[in-house]
Amino acid sequence: MTISGTTAAEIAGSVRDQVSSGELAPRAVLPPVRTLAAELGVNRNTVALAYRRLVEAGVAETRGRGGTVIAAVPQLAREGVGAGGASTDLASGNPDPELLPDILAVVRRGRYRRPLYGVPAVDPGLAEWASADFAEDIEQPFRTLVAHGAVDATERLLNAHLARGDLVAIEDPCFLASIGTLRLNGYRSVPVRVDGAGMRPDALRAALEDGARAVVCTPRAHNPTGASLTEERAADLRAILAGHPQVLVIEDDHFSAVSARPYHRITPPTTARWALVRSLSKFLGPDLRLALLAADPETTARLEARLSAGTTWVSHLLQHISRELLLDPAVHELHERARETYTHRSGLLVGQLHAQGIEVPHRPDGLNVWVELDVDGRSVADALGQRGWAVRPGHVFVPDGSAHRGAVRVTTSTITEPQAEAFAAELTSVVADLRAAGA
Ligand SMILES: Cc1ncc(COP(=O)(O)O)c(C=O)c1O
Repeated sequence: MTISGTTAAEIAGSVRDQVSSGELAPRAVLPPVRTLAAELGVNRNTVALAYRRLVEAGVAETRGRGGTVIAAVPQLAREGVGAGGASTDLASGNPDPELLPDILAVVRRGRYRRPLYGVPAVDPGLAEWASADFAEDIEQPFRTLVAHGAVDATERLLNAHLARGDLVAIEDPCFLASIGTLRLNGYRSVPVRVDGAGMRPDALRAALEDGARAVVCTPRAHNPTGASLTEERAADLRAILAGHPQVLVIEDDHFSAVSARPYHRITPPTTARWALVRSLSKFLGPDLRLALLAADPETTARLEARLSAGTTWVSHLLQHISRELLLDPAVHELHERARETYTHRSGLLVGQLHAQGIEVPHRPDGLNVWVELDVDGRSVADALGQRGWAVRPGHVFVPDGSAHRGAVRVTTSTITEPQAEAFAAELTSVVADLRAAGA
């Protein structure tokens, strides 16, 4: 590699040329600032600035003591990856398709007027429904918008307010797509540990003191742990956030309509930039790609400016279908059934694990049960896989994926009583084998 130039722009340009030509491959380590500065006969600050620009542009990454390296396309874990072959799939993180409404049945219902360029970005009937729903939980002035699901909403919100390299506080363990969104957009994550009542206040305080410019928090049915904020915990987090009014607060209430827990708000009234996001994926279906969001007026103005352009337009056909479903009493009955069914199914597994002496310390809400173990989660998932059970090992949900985590996530959205019983017995036997082997 021969990097040339005497200004920061020239040095950064020379590196970019070599990345384009393939001379510099992904993960190649750039020379230390001091070495390159001496070689080129320039000030160290000039090289440091060139490297910073490369990081901001997503061309390079800083690895602390590992130096600056050429960025590679991130390898990201994602939801929906379940069992191969003959395994029983307790890994997917998916809702039960039987508990989702028939989308096609409502396509021709109501008024859909072939919207053309220039229509308002949000379907008025859907906006009205969403505003009434959000008004029950939000006291600040807000406006409602749509996005292509919660993951897209989170990305749009972060991109509206943050710059590459900014720190974002996320839960540890964390929903896979949030980890992915941060990595793909060049934000740095600050993990905030989660216990049975949600984000831990001491960990959130530390993340904010470390300079986090945004917080992404799941108020209930946290994925992967199933934790929901208690009223007391939400009040503690709100008090901490009140000391940082400039920090963007995103609440990802992804399980809203089918959650068995009440929503407790963590956004203080003094926070300037905030959003409450409610995905429709878990109760109308992930393929609708729709989430409703309420946010402060400045944030909604920023997001709305992009809603009528190119691929960021959220189709009115999807909005029309969502509106018809959300106004349908039969769909609300289905949600009631889904809520009870998911609670019952996770309870089946928790009960069977308890019978085997494996305790899940809190009653989970959502589609998953998080089982903490004193043996390596990877080894447990591998051994279960060999016995025909697919689960996700805990380490994939850790923002710093290299960290060990003695846990597995078990998706219970479709689990039956015999499956729960058989799985609990298999898990017990696998853990005993691993303990005996000293894993
Ligand atoms: C915490 C969390 N947020 C959001 C979602 C859904 O995202 P989307 O609305 O983009 O489908 C999920 C799905 O598993 C989730 O677990």
